[in-house]
Amino acid sequence: MQTTNTKRGQFTTKIGIIMASAGSAVGLGNIWRFPYETGENGGAAFILIYLACVLFIGMPIVISEFVIGRRGKVNTSGAFRVLAPGTPWYMVGMLGVLTGIIILGYYTVVAGWTLEYIMQAAIGGFAGKSPADFQSSFVEFSSHSFRPLLWLAIFMFMTHYIVVSGVEKGIERYSKIMMPMLLVIMLVLVGCSISLPGASKGLEFLLKPDFSKVDGSVLMSAMGQAFFSLSIGMGCLCTYSSYFKRDVNLARTALSVVSLDTLVAILAGLIIFPAAFSVNIQPDTGPSLIFVTLPNVFQQAFGSMPILSWVFSVMFYLLLSVAALTSTISLHEVVTAYLKEEFKISRKKAAWIVTLFCLGLGVIASLSLGEWEEAKVFGMSFFDFSDYITTKIMMPIGGILISVFVGWWMDKKDLKDEMMSSGELKKSFFKVFAFVLKYVVPLGIAILFINGMGWM
Ligand code: PHE
Repeated sequence: MQTTNTKRGQFTTKIGIIMASAGSAVGLGNIWRFPYETGENGGAAFILIYLACVLFIGMPIVISEFVIGRRGKVNTSGAFRVLAPGTPWYMVGMLGVLTGIIILGYYTVVAGWTLEYIMQAAIGGFAGKSPADFQSSFVEFSSHSFRPLLWLAIFMFMTHYIVVSGVEKGIERYSKIMMPMLLVIMLVLVGCSISLPGASKGLEFLLKPDFSKVDGSVLMSAMGQAFFSLSIGMGCLCTYSSYFKRDVNLARTALSVVSLDTLVAILAGLIIFPAAFSVNIQPDTGPSLIFVTLPNVFQQAFGSMPILSWVFSVMFYLLLSVAALTSTISLHEVVTAYLKEEFKISRKKAAWIVTLFCLGLGVIASLSLGEWEEAKVFGMSFFDFSDYITTKIMMPIGGILISVFVGWWMDKKDLKDEMMSSGELKKSFFKVFAFVLKYVVPLGIAILFINGMGWM
């Protein structure tokens, strides 16, 4: 069954499609979250498990979400309703929308931090500071009563503006420029970082696995990171693929997106760890890792060449906020498309509701790191709780349901038709894909989940 809706927006070029999807995937997850998760979970062994999760769980789910979205041609919840009318499957889409709302709230807080750091870098605010100063200025800034809130609001409104501009004019055009820029800047930064004195210890940390520290929680963290980084398990890629044309090869597009996302994460690791080890900063510093260590690194590495230090630091935080923006756009779009289509309201109105509501959540998440530090949700700050519940619980559950839907529930003929819309697909590929999707993905997630919760 297929619906056509000629008035809906569409991505116009293939490269625009890849860039927009990769723009969603590549973001703070790769550059901010991946390094600190890697640092907290022991380095190379974590990365190997992460890669396995990306390949055996992530990739099949990316393809599945593409299939659901393009077949349904509506928002994520509506797509399930189109494909499985009269069943409760549409609730999987609603779970995704809820996940998107929670992520957008706390994600934009961190995105806002990147704006503060661009400004600090640009006005030379890092000059002459010691490592201890960087630590205390981060804590002071992130727990400040209104500075982070201001940046949070600015970032949320930037996202709002682009989402309101619509699919072709907004999302595609911005992603097409921003993504290649990001890759180029990162490559330059890797070159700088690995040539620092003592950088080899950082490379060793990234490349020499030590499996002795791997336990259930490391496994669950690696899986959560894969979900978060690939933007899967919550309907984001479903929503984007509803704007894809028929001649797009879904499996190939998925491969490009997953490869790009993984490449950027590895590049981020190659920028951050050699640099951190070079100036003796602990890899398990946590969420503040890039904000505390890097200014310090720029400072020490280029102490005698202030102009290089300036360029290096401004570029880094700029690229980080650009990457974050293409992701917040996609998070916002999931919820906006849902409200617009399910409640038949204008795109603008839908976007305003999302912006204001998520801004509220963002304010709570931000204050939970400072003024409201005492208020805990299950023993965590609201910020940490938002991260925990989405990456470790809601997205994996969404992932299981999506793989069961496409692997077990959906008509094989429909699935084949979507996957082969741009020409024949190798029979053997389809067989392997169907097997992995039916068995490996749901069982894999369930086992890692149960293990991580300590139930096994
Ligand atoms: N994948 C994005 C990142 O790595 C975050 C994101 C998660 C975006 C879920 C959309 C949906 O930064």
